[in-house]
Formats: sequence, structure tokens, C-alpha cells
Amino acid sequence: MSYPSAVRLFEVGVRDGLQNEKEIVPTHIKVELIERLVDAGVTAIETGSFVSPKWVPQMADTADVMASVKRQDGIIYSVLTPNMRGYEGAVASRANEIEIFSGASEIFSQKNINCSIDESLERFQPVVDAAKKDGIPVRASVSCAFGSPFGEEILAGKVAEVSKKLYDMGAYEISIADTIGVGTPIKVTKVLEAVADVIPLDVIGVHFHDTYGQALANLHAALEIGITRLDSSVAGLGGCPYAPGATGNVASEDIVYMLDGMGIECGIDLKKLVKTAWFISDFLGRPPVSNVAKAIKSKLN
Ligand code: HMG
Ligand code: MG
Repeated sequence: MSYPSAVRLFEVGVRDGLQNEKEIVPTHIKVELIERLVDAGVTAIETGSFVSPKWVPQMADTADVMASVKRQDGIIYSVLTPNMRGYEGAVASRANEIEIFSGASEIFSQKNINCSIDESLERFQPVVDAAKKDGIPVRASVSCAFGSPFGEEILAGKVAEVSKKLYDMGAYEISIADTIGVGTPIKVTKVLEAVADVIPLDVIGVHFHDTYGQALANLHAALEIGITRLDSSVAGLGGCPYAPGATGNVASEDIVYMLDGMGIECGIDLKKLVKTAWFISDFLGRPPVSNVAKAIKSKLN
């Protein structure tokens, strides 16, 4: 068994994390959070989403966030785009990557973006075509890959089918998401192997919510089969307003601590990251869910 020597972390805390917060987080806090994460070594970050503000009010200021963030060379500032209107917002805000999002659960698709899986793929085609023309890379996410909040059985073959369609459409990375955090390691291996049968292993990413405390074990299973693209969320923030029961993503600090211990390079300064986790947690008025952030706090100066 051999692990990758290096991985790329994609930070989703500002979008997937904060989208679930009931109280609106001021723009300047989001901006400071992004800048602190980049200072800690994050190279790819989801800064918000151009979705309907009626559906996700917390993301209504994404254009302001993007306008205020001091951009650093070589950093990916990515936004979620559900349709052409979202794509236009992304271009106007100078996003240098976009993310489209479909899934393996029909019910979740209806509740999250008000259309079927097939309709979502049709809706994304013009978005990807426009991004290709404009030279903007597209990442894609496949939700509910290990279970549905609505009790449907999710077949590995369905996850693979949607992943392949998104890859064939032109997405350079396909993030396989455990939206409600129900996966366990052997299941994760089986689903990822089914996806790797139809698209290259090196374009597959993983996005684990930690609802049942399985996310690090699942990540380890993904590393074992050679996955190098990991979504992470500072302070373990996260959830999806349209996935009942979904809690936070696996914390970036916990992932970085594990990677450091395994000798897998990710380019992130753990102390700076932990300080950033406490920055946003203090603002939100509760401690990070991350054990690492709690354990290291007393050692920070
Ligand atoms: P709809 O109601 O079917 O669409 O929503 P519509 O075309 O009828 O538009 C409804 C209203 O939204 C209209 O405004 C549009 O103008 C407006 P009104 O006339 O009522 O005033 N609108 C927009 N406004 C701003 N930006 C836009 C936009 N598009 C339409 N881009 C729609 C369809 C897709 C818009 C809606 O369902 C939506 O915004 N959904 C987003 C939900 C969302 O953001 N969910 C969370 C992200 S996914 C996630 O967290 C999972 C992930 O983390 C991976 C995982 O863990 O699984 C990625
Ligand atoms: Mg998510």
C-alpha cells in the first residue's frame, strides 16, 4: 500500500461552511477569513456562491466578498454557479474557477436546485461551454454519493454515471461528496473504485461531511487508493440547508494534522490554520468542532 506524497486541499469553509449559518456573517469577516486561509498556505478556496439569495441568503454578498479580497498570485478563488445567471456573476467578480454541482439523489436534486439530475446536467452544459470559451476551469461536485437524506438507496453505478457525464462535459475535477456524512471506509473505497473505473483517478476529489464521525477514516480510505484532491473546511464548519441532518465538513486542521503525521505534503501551516479556525469560531461564538484546533490552542502564541 502506498500513499500519495502530496495532496491538494480545496478549502470550502467560507462557502459550504458559512452557507449553513443562520445569522448573516458580515462581508469583512468573510474577507478576513479568506485572506487568513491563504496566508496559512491554502491555494484553492471556495469564496462563495452565485445562487439565488432567496434560497441561500448567507451567500448574497459573494460579489462584495470577491470585490474586497486582496487577490494573491497563483491562488484559485472559486465560486459555485447553479446556472448561467450564476456564471455571469462569477465572471463579473473575476472568479478564476467555477464549480457546478449535481448529485446522485433525485430528491436532493429537486430540493437543492429545483430540477432533476438530468435537467441539472442540461442546465450546466451552457455554463461549462461558456467557461471553456472564457478559459475558466470548472470543478464539479456529486452530492449524496454515499447516502441520501431522503432514504433512497444510492448505487455506486449512479455516482459513477453522473461523475462521467460531468467529466465528459469538461469538468477538470469531480468531487465526490458525502453530503450527510454517512459513509464508512469500505463503502467509500467501493464507490471511489466504481468512479475510478470510468474517469481518471487523478481527477477525483472527495468532500466528506463528518456527521457520524467517519470523515477522517473515510479520507484515509481515499488516500489509500491514491486520491490527491481533498475538500476541507476550516473549524469543521458546514452543512447544506437542503440536506436535513447534514452537519459540518471534516475540519481542515484535523486533515492537515493527519497529513503532517503521515508525511504527506499539503503546503499548509497548521498553527496559522488553527489560529484561523479560532478567528472564525470566536466570531460565531462557539469553539471549532476540530479536536486538533482545541488541542493546539494552548500552544499558540
Ligand atoms: P428556481 O426557483 O427553480 O429558479 O431556483 P428560477 O429560475 O425560477 O429563479 C427563481 C429566482 O431566483 C428568480 O428571482 C431568479 O431571478 C433568481 P425572482 O424573479 O423570484 O426575484 N435566480 C438567481 N438569483 C441569483 N443568482 C442566480 C439565480 N438564478 C435564479 N444564479 C436555483 C433554481 C438553482 C436558482 C435555486 O434552486 C438555487 O439557487 N439553489 C442553490 C441551492 C444551494 O446553493 N445549495 C447549497 C449548495 S450545494 C451543496 O452545499 C453541496 C456541496 O457542498 C457538496 C455536498 O456536500 O454534497 C457542493
Ligand atoms: Mg458540502
